Amino acid sequence: MKTLTVLGSTGSIGTNTLDIVRRSRHQYRVYALAAGRNADTLASQVLEFRPQVAVVATSDGLARLAERLHAAGLPREEWPELLCGDAALVQIAVADGVDTVISAIVGVAGLEATYEAVCRGKRVGLANKEVLVSGGKLVMEAVRQHKAELIPVDSEHNGAHQCLRAGNRSQVTRLILTASGGPFRNTPKEALAYVTPQQALNHPTWRMGNRITIDCATLMNKGFEVIEACWLFGFAPSEVDVVIHPQSTVHAMIEYSDGSVLAQISATDMRMPIQYALTYPDRREAPVPKINWAEARTLEFLAPDFQKFPLLTLAYQCQETGGSATCTLNAADEIAVEAFLQGKIGYLTIHEIVAETLSKMPVRWPRTIGDVLEIDRESRALARELTLAHAGAITA
Ligand SMILES: NC(=O)c1ccc[n+]([C@@H]2O[C@H](COP(=O)([O-])OP(=O)(O)OC[C@H]3O[C@@H](n4cnc5c(N)ncnc54)[C@H](OP(=O)(O)O)[C@@H]3O)[C@@H](O)[C@H]2O)c1
Repeated sequence: MKTLTVLGSTGSIGTNTLDIVRRSRHQYRVYALAAGRNADTLASQVLEFRPQVAVVATSDGLARLAERLHAAGLPREEWPELLCGDAALVQIAVADGVDTVISAIVGVAGLEATYEAVCRGKRVGLANKEVLVSGGKLVMEAVRQHKAELIPVDSEHNGAHQCLRAGNRSQVTRLILTASGGPFRNTPKEALAYVTPQQALNHPTWRMGNRITIDCATLMNKGFEVIEACWLFGFAPSEVDVVIHPQSTVHAMIEYSDGSVLAQISATDMRMPIQYALTYPDRREAPVPKINWAEARTLEFLAPDFQKFPLLTLAYQCQETGGSATCTLNAADEIAVEAFLQGKIGYLTIHEIVAETLSKMPVRWPRTIGDVLEIDRESRALARELTLAHAGAITA
């Protein structure tokens, strides 16, 4: 039986993780659940999964969670320990007896706890891509030093992880990551200035949290995945290709030195990669549809339009630059996406803010996770200033 901590239990990855647990109760025990602000969902998860600890981001959230548990009639002696804040996230990630941590918080809020879990040699099912985008060098050094298992949950990296099991890493020449192309794949470049958050949130193949969905619409998400892949599998950016594959059926491909290409194919359902991260190296029956090969289907592969989606280019450049460049890239994008979702800036301004922040933030070489978080804070502050200037320009 595996004992789990789920960081980000109320989100899209978190709820899918708990669905896997729900279907295989005899295989998993939930030690702790952590969420941000959604006390309602967390309370119902507490009632169903009975963790020993439940964590929320703030003390207000804690009060709301206690209220919900009280209203649900859960006797006090059956309540989990209720905690809040970053230190509590670390506490549940490193707790003795926890063997697997699912890292599914969105943003750098999940970085420290994930890093500390790695430092305790735990298995980490990694969905939170900001962990490697912001702190990739330090996290991967810790993985090696503490012999932790970092199993990617992101479907593309999970697919690559599967393909890499078939051969010798030294004979791999290329990783190909697929991208659906997002909702604006066929939208003319000139029309992008007018697209709305609602249009950008309408992802053609996946249902995910808001930030990652907007990042898919700008291809920033694919850029983050290039960075993540470089850290996870030891590729240079030039060895990682992106291809547009609107059907999202092939998740990743690995090219070997003899020109043979292995592809990982499965339904667009995150429960498969989540379960893989839990059961690796075993495979078990997963609650996802199987592909019916008797049905006629078309699988298309196209080159991405780097002119139309310049954030993808920026991601390659930042990974080549190294140091804090990718941390700043992520921080600036998060602020710009938030402003876009709030209707304060237009779609094209997301790239402008990110590029401007990168040009103004000097590249540094963080030596601790604290350094990374400081650079993240400074980058955000700068991106916020730039966002205000742009938003002011729109309303003026
Ligand atoms: N969804 C996917 O299919 C998918 C695929 C690949 C990778 N990912 C990556 O996985 C991560 C999660 O994505 P998602 O789509 O599941 O996002 P999501 O639906 O927005 O969920 C994010 C989770 O993080 C929690 N959270 C936010 N701030 C927190 C804080 N300060 N402390 C504790 N918890 C906090 C949220 O809690 P509340 O909701 O309670 O505020 C929620 O549980 C992202 O990094 C994303 O890029 C997702």
